[in-house]
Amino acid sequence: MSLPVTAKVSFGGDYNPEQWPEPVWADDYRLFDLAGIDTVTLGVFDWALTQPAPDAYDFALLDRIVARAAAQGRTICLATGTGAHPAWLARAHPEVTRVDFEGRRHRFGQRHNSCPSSPVFRRLSTELARRLAARYADNPSVVAWHVGNEYGGACYCHLCAAGFRQWLRERYHTLAALNAAWYTTFWSHTFGDWDEIEPPSALTEHWRGPDHTAFQGITLDYRRFMSEAMLANFRDEKAAIRESSDAPVTTNFMGMYRPIDYHRWAEHLDFASWDNYPPDDSSPEWMALGHDLMRGLKDGQPFWLMEQTPSTTACRDVNPLKRPGVMRLWSWQAVAHGADAVLFFQLRASRGACEKYHGAVIGHAGRADTRVFREVADLGAELRRLGDVTLGARTPARVALLFDWDSWWALEISDGPSRLVRYQQVVLAYYRALWAAGADVDVIGVGADLSGYEVVVAPALHMLKDDLADRLAAVAERGGSVLTTFLSGRVDGDGNAFLMDVPGPLGRLMGVRVDEWDAREAEVVNPVCLGTGRFEVPARLVFELVIPAGAEVVGSYRADFYAGTPAVTRNSYGAGHGWYVGTALEQPGVSWVVRQVLDHHGLTGPYPDVPGLETSVRVTPDGTRLRFLLNHDPEPVTVTAARGGVDLLTGDRVDPGRPLRIDGHGVVLVREDA
Ligand code: GLA
Ligand code: ZN
Repeated sequence: MSLPVTAKVSFGGDYNPEQWPEPVWADDYRLFDLAGIDTVTLGVFDWALTQPAPDAYDFALLDRIVARAAAQGRTICLATGTGAHPAWLARAHPEVTRVDFEGRRHRFGQRHNSCPSSPVFRRLSTELARRLAARYADNPSVVAWHVGNEYGGACYCHLCAAGFRQWLRERYHTLAALNAAWYTTFWSHTFGDWDEIEPPSALTEHWRGPDHTAFQGITLDYRRFMSEAMLANFRDEKAAIRESSDAPVTTNFMGMYRPIDYHRWAEHLDFASWDNYPPDDSSPEWMALGHDLMRGLKDGQPFWLMEQTPSTTACRDVNPLKRPGVMRLWSWQAVAHGADAVLFFQLRASRGACEKYHGAVIGHAGRADTRVFREVADLGAELRRLGDVTLGARTPARVALLFDWDSWWALEISDGPSRLVRYQQVVLAYYRALWAAGADVDVIGVGADLSGYEVVVAPALHMLKDDLADRLAAVAERGGSVLTTFLSGRVDGDGNAFLMDVPGPLGRLMGVRVDEWDAREAEVVNPVCLGTGRFEVPARLVFELVIPAGAEVVGSYRADFYAGTPAVTRNSYGAGHGWYVGTALEQPGVSWVVRQVLDHHGLTGPYPDVPGLETSVRVTPDGTRLRFLLNHDPEPVTVTAARGGVDLLTGDRVDPGRPLRIDGHGVVLVREDA
């Protein structure tokens, strides 16, 4: 089971016609036709509508909504609607709402608010999914199922506590094993009974917030448990859907979202999908990393862009508008990284509640002559012209970047060496370097097969589990390069330090050892001199004092008592190399190191270092290479075409050696000559 079968890149988005009178629907579809919208995601928050009372199901309105979409020839992604529970449920069963980190039992309100361990929530959400599937499975327009919505958050109630204890019994079998894993001799924490174990919260092990815990072991395990408790909710609903429908099932992920370990979820989804809401409008690498991470969840299989705003969000304090051309550019960026669907939140704007100012394809006035609508319609036409060319195409990456939720958690819940080191920022710096060099990258979990990669970049790989160190060593053994950084190889799967030199089991591959490390406030710089020349880059936050044990020195600190000692090293290992970067180099330094590695393997792209220019390749099932050139800069840029082909968006010929212009915020999609 994989992606929904479609004839082109699906185009459309969340559509909530239950919020407005039926006569408006005709207008909606007239406008959808104009905009080339072929796909609607229905029913994402319909639980109170479809189950208005404990023993009453009412699908009358949803029937009309689904029938209308089908009659209008749309493809439907049908949601189970369990991302927000109805008020009657919270009233009848107060335990269905969550208890927060501070120990406060929430009452009815908001969304994404159900306790994942609540038996009544589990039973009723599953029953709703079962009934929806039974009702609509035979409708050929329903091509995909969308379970829940943006799973996340955490609950600390007594039901979750009981669930946690059960989860721990299954994981550890004995209290002796648990006590050892959590290192409970420290601070007199030895547990003599499973029922003594409390969820780690502000009332128990934590002291300043969710990242400040006295015991990393219990906090790590609680995050794992919560992620799996919500996964169980997803799996319940999916199993209920499967009783009557074979259509692919997904849920909308959120890219680099810390609370949920998407790698542990991935095998349970038929295809991945995600909601792309970047932190600002100048983070193309952040979005690219999100796309690559989502594509990596299912072995490189294409994914769906389930949501993006056509214009502006509403939940931020300040919500900037996408500039002309930017929505199109970001949509193509998603396709360039593996999206087989481009969907919006939302097709028509809500009139009330907190998202009434959230951008939509159709605004409150219902006009087709707005800039946003016109841009959506132009993109719709463009995608229609493109047809099925990109569907199912794969990214031919020989560079892998490891992304690991356990390392993220373990790093950020540790006291020391520095709270200023943020996992996402370290990963992003290395990804940005690869991105700017134009390398195609797979972002994958630590359990993924590494045998197809020449370069493996593992920033802040704090936790080393299972046989990962051996598998990384094998990459170098056969001639590949492995690059890792400060704060890698520090802890085992329980979050306990290795009884050996830092970086633990990576030490042999890296040919270094680290006895000491220094951490300083963000404004303190220790320059690092890189290479043989005079390239000096500021480094900050954490400074590991790297002692070569076979590795050659590539960069050294310039200041403080460790001036002149190594900060960056390269070790020959087997036929390849282990690179170690012992400090948070500023971006030019990270980019310099990454470029040494890429150039060594000939993996730098044909258009490196053009500011704002992103390139990405997809290879279709018949072997055709599609190269996307995306200009994130508002000014046009001209490069010399490296290969010939045809721009599929204009029909223009691209000749090798000739100038190739990409408009400001423009996109060129070259089908390269064979
Ligand atoms: C999320 C949700 C949507 C909507 C958008 C608004 O992605 O899934 O329901 O709230 O955010 O940006
Ligand atoms: Zn709970």
